[in-house]
Amino acid sequence: MKLSSSVFSGLCLLIEILGIALFLRGFFPVSIKSSLSSKSKLSDLPEEPVLGSSPNSSKVPPPLFNKVVILLIDALRDDFVFGPSGKRFMPYTRNLVESVSSHSFVAKARPPTVTMPRIKALTTGSIPGFIDVVMNLNSQALLEDNLLWQAKTSGKRIIFYGDDTWVRLFPKHFLEYDGTTSFFVSDYTEVDNNVTRHLDSTLKRDDWDILILHYLGLDHIGHISGPHSSLIGPKLLEMDDVIKKIHTSIITKEAGDSLPNLLVLCGDHGMSETGSHGGSSEPEVNTPLVLISSAFVKKEGMGEPLVVEQVDLTPTLSLALALPISQNSVGRLIPAVFEKAAPLLPY
Ligand SMILES: *[C@@H]1O[C@H](CO)[C@@H](O)[C@H](O)[C@H]1NC(C)=O
Ligand SMILES: *[C@@H]1O[C@H](CO)[C@@H](O)[C@H](O)[C@H]1NC(C)=O
Ligand SMILES: [Zn+2]
Repeated sequence: MKLSSSVFSGLCLLIEILGIALFLRGFFPVSIKSSLSSKSKLSDLPEEPVLGSSPNSSKVPPPLFNKVVILLIDALRDDFVFGPSGKRFMPYTRNLVESVSSHSFVAKARPPTVTMPRIKALTTGSIPGFIDVVMNLNSQALLEDNLLWQAKTSGKRIIFYGDDTWVRLFPKHFLEYDGTTSFFVSDYTEVDNNVTRHLDSTLKRDDWDILILHYLGLDHIGHISGPHSSLIGPKLLEMDDVIKKIHTSIITKEAGDSLPNLLVLCGDHGMSETGSHGGSSEPEVNTPLVLISSAFVKKEGMGEPLVVEQVDLTPTLSLALALPISQNSVGRLIPAVFEKAAPLLPY
């Protein structure tokens, strides 16, 4: 009797240890060496099943864009652009959204709606685990296959200004960078001025292919006084000016027979009604995604923006720049980007 009860408690203990081990294995990311260190290559492309002519597996679609500017505004919620506040405070952007040379989407950010996991999702196209929330402030260089690694490897020159999380994740990828710190949440002016001060000179230069900007001011205003604060309006107006500056510059650069340029306006996550983020409520996960280029000819005016996943941007940008899609990407292509401007059929 005594023996069997100690065997029983021993068994319980064993099962408990197994349970904890199983939990920890799921909670912490498994670092599979091969999946972390291997990167997609163009030579990995499967052969096209071409009828008649011999297959040519090294054929890659040509790039669609020359320069790409990615403007990420931290905590940009979809209604800040598509809703009434967008109409009031972002007139230039709304004009672009309603014009024929843009495509608008609501991009769903997966929880945790925190900056570092969102940057990882946008660049790798994969969905980071929960442990990334814990490591949000202590991010290390990103070893996984990602868009910036692919771009740099294929010779693209990348410039970055904004949230220094990017500089920690991509320490060797930028031709030039200036990281701003999100440590002082009460500062919503200098963090953005430190980005904007580089714009005029950078936009004049011609020695870069991809420009990434990450503005933190709006997020800080959310944390201080919420999404209905009187500080939101002036901040959105300031961002609208930045968009105007970039758009007019990349349009005038499109001289000659070079490919058109692309401006991507996006958010990393939204903002709850109290101004926080991290969870999975609608205002936290719904971010606007506006793709602007003279290459686009949208057929209808502004309807309801389609809903896409935030990770869909990754393979879409890869293909549009003729880069291999990063290995762990689960995003889908956004078809509108690849639609050719077709003349209207006569009926
Ligand atoms: C395959 O593509 C390469 C590069 O474009 C070209 O040089 C080659 O002739 C092509 N081969 C066939 C069989 O079409
Ligand atoms: C802005 O730039 C100045 C000068 O480079 C620097 O001292 C300051 O810490 C920066 N501010 C932020 C919020 O990163
Ligand atoms: Zn953020």
